[in-house]
Amino acid sequence: MARLLLLNGPNLNLLGSREPTLYGTETLEAIEQRVTALARESGHELLAFQSNAEHELIERLHRARSESVAFVIINPGAFTHTSIALRDALLATGLPFIEVHLSNPQAREEFRRHSYFSDIAVGVVSGLGAFGYEAAVRAAALRLSRKP
Ligand code: DQA
Repeated sequence: MARLLLLNGPNLNLLGSREPTLYGTETLEAIEQRVTALARESGHELLAFQSNAEHELIERLHRARSESVAFVIINPGAFTHTSIALRDALLATGLPFIEVHLSNPQAREEFRRHSYFSDIAVGVVSGLGAFGYEAAVRAAALRLSRKP
């Protein structure tokens, strides 16, 4: 059994009603419930946390170190394109992570094309809607089962 931490950044609490043509109609709560169950099926525990505040996401990552979290799945929202501090927090934990985006930022505005996370991520899932979270949990479980 391993512990996974799912982090969602700013405005993702509005999923379901926020620009549904881009981000879908499913709420974050529904996504979290689904991927928590999926992680459990694979024998893992998933902790979910969302915040609109950069420092809260950073502090949640700091706490993960003492909670035996083995893997992080993160949709940093707009912090993807701005936050060196959140990048540094991930590097400080030393935890492997997958970056998830519901939309495909590469196919959107120029300012979304740069990510402060992709070059240090295990992988990036984008453009697949809420299924991206599921894909990330499955990939994390596979990776954790391969570890000695
Ligand atoms: C997002 C893409 C970001 O550019 C945007 O700021 C978000 C959501 C996505 O999931 O597609 O808030 O991370």
